[in-house]
Amino acid sequence: MTTVLLPRLPILFLLFSLCFLFPPAQGILHSYTKQSHLQPISGISQPPAPAPEVDSGGDITIFNVLSFGAIGNGVTDDTQAFKMAWDTACQAEESGILLVPKGYSFMMQSTIFTGPCNSGIVFQIDGTIMPPDGPDSWPKNNSKRQWLVFYRINGMSLQGGGVIDGRGEKWWNLPCKPHKGINGTTQPGACDSPVAIRFFMSSNLTVQGLKVKNSPQFHVRFDGCQNVHIEMLNIKAPAGSPNTDGIHIENTNNVKIYNSAVSNGDDCVSIGAGSYNIDIKNITCGPSHGISIGSLGVRNSRACVSNITVSDSVIKHSDNGVRIKTWQGGSGAVSKITFHNIHMDTVRNPIIIDQYYCQTKNCPNQTSAVVISDVLYTNIKGTYDVRSPPMHFVCSDTVPCTNLTLSEVELLPAQGNILANPVCWNAYGTMQTISIPPVFCLLEGIPQMMQQSDVDRC
Ligand SMILES: *[C@@H]1O[C@H](CO)[C@@H](O)[C@H](O)[C@H]1NC(C)=O
Ligand SMILES: *[C@@H]1O[C@H](CO)[C@@H](O)[C@H](O)[C@H]1NC(C)=O
Ligand SMILES: *[C@@H]1O[C@H](CO)[C@@H](O)[C@H](O)[C@H]1NC(C)=O
Ligand SMILES: *[C@@H]1O[C@H](CO)[C@@H](O)[C@H](O)[C@H]1NC(C)=O
Ligand SMILES: *[C@@H]1O[C@H](CO)[C@@H](O)[C@H](O)[C@H]1NC(C)=O
Ligand SMILES: *[C@@H]1O[C@H](CO)[C@@H](O)[C@H](O)[C@H]1NC(C)=O
Ligand SMILES: *[C@@H]1O[C@H](CO)[C@@H](O)[C@H](O)[C@H]1NC(C)=O
Repeated sequence: MTTVLLPRLPILFLLFSLCFLFPPAQGILHSYTKQSHLQPISGISQPPAPAPEVDSGGDITIFNVLSFGAIGNGVTDDTQAFKMAWDTACQAEESGILLVPKGYSFMMQSTIFTGPCNSGIVFQIDGTIMPPDGPDSWPKNNSKRQWLVFYRINGMSLQGGGVIDGRGEKWWNLPCKPHKGINGTTQPGACDSPVAIRFFMSSNLTVQGLKVKNSPQFHVRFDGCQNVHIEMLNIKAPAGSPNTDGIHIENTNNVKIYNSAVSNGDDCVSIGAGSYNIDIKNITCGPSHGISIGSLGVRNSRACVSNITVSDSVIKHSDNGVRIKTWQGGSGAVSKITFHNIHMDTVRNPIIIDQYYCQTKNCPNQTSAVVISDVLYTNIKGTYDVRSPPMHFVCSDTVPCTNLTLSEVELLPAQGNILANPVCWNAYGTMQTISIPPVFCLLEGIPQMMQQSDVDRC
């Protein structure tokens, strides 16, 4: 059974190890890219004489988008060249590198890079990739919900020192966006805006070293994926840009997000339904809306999220720090969540559980809820923005939160010296060490009203 796979695995493994040990992979690529952009870019002249279609750098074949007719002047539509380079690399029997060379700026329409491919692919972005500039330039027959999509791919590294620039500004200013209509109103109507990079039903993915900026909507989104490693990713958009979540994960498991930084106008990382085994370490968020599990349970949906760890991280100048948010009326469970070694700097709600999340003004009261249990907060220190209390544990009326544990939590006001009282509602848990400010409002023990049968444990 395994014999069929065996020949490929060592190559994939070698490829991935190479990527990790020599991050920019430029040792391999440099001599090649040098040849390919000797001539200055000119809007009129033909592109530099194409390099040979493929170039064998040892065992690894390089598929340079310039060799497939891409121009890279930031204006010409290079979509077809990228598609051809992808198809060729994807069909190759040996692992290859799809190269987006340094010194060029490629304009691409909404594109789905589809697998499965015959072997692993390194998508090496050293130049810049950008979409058409705003909704008016977006081709009518293209999806307005996504820009670069990777679909059904097993074994890919999206990496490099380049930039993915979502040119989001005109999308953020659509009158349908919050406060962007006339006189600060929000106008009704279709408001679709593209996610910059979307991985869908894919596995064994690495995203490494890139800068992703100014996405019209979420920056990087994983849906239905397994085995994802994000390393040294830099995501940047203005603090006021609506809905520009940094990394969004849903229906995805085994995710590592390490050594990355996000500043944007919405959640730094958001974790949706069906996500488990997620490890986030050394991420710097801010300005942002913090790291969020949820929102979950919208429109009476079921959500299961478990085994999430966030550690050794910094959250600064953000609306929230570490947040779990659920809508009333949902079902399912959030459990085994650990927030460990997190430094807060001027964060408005450093620690928050909100089971009454509601985006419109009048969400009706409902009895069912996504159950929250086994949440551990250890060594969370720093300052909070005094406009709201530093800790909120506001749980469902009917389904309490259980087994919340606090240890070495110290949160001081960023201004002044008056400590605000934590807020609890139907929250069961313990303070293992006296926190600052102390949380005396947690209920002790295990609630009697929790009947095994009421609770959907996932
Ligand atoms: C959109 O239309 C253009 C021109 O008619 C065509 O080349 C392109 O393939 C179409 N794209 C999609 C996604 O259908
Ligand atoms: C916008 O506000 C101004 C000043 O308050 C007002 O005169 C104007 O009628 C408003 N426009 C609309 C469309 O509400
Ligand atoms: C991911 O890679 C591992 C190891 O290379 C392999 O065993 C596994 O089958 C891959 N996952 C999928 C869904 O193909
Ligand atoms: C943490 O991540 C940053 C990048 O955001 C990196 O520069 C730094 O070296 C990382 N720290 C450790 C201890 O790996
Ligand atoms: C929890 O997730 C981590 C990866 O983040 C994994 O190593 C560990 O095995 C998972 N624990 C369980 C009980 O599945
Ligand atoms: C929902 O419940 C809260 C708290 O029990 C109560 O204050 C509020 O009036 C209720 N809202 C509605 C619409 O029934
Ligand atoms: C409470 O949660 C902690 C982790 O935060 C876990 O180790 C412990 O087993 C849980 N206790 C119960 C009774 O489930």
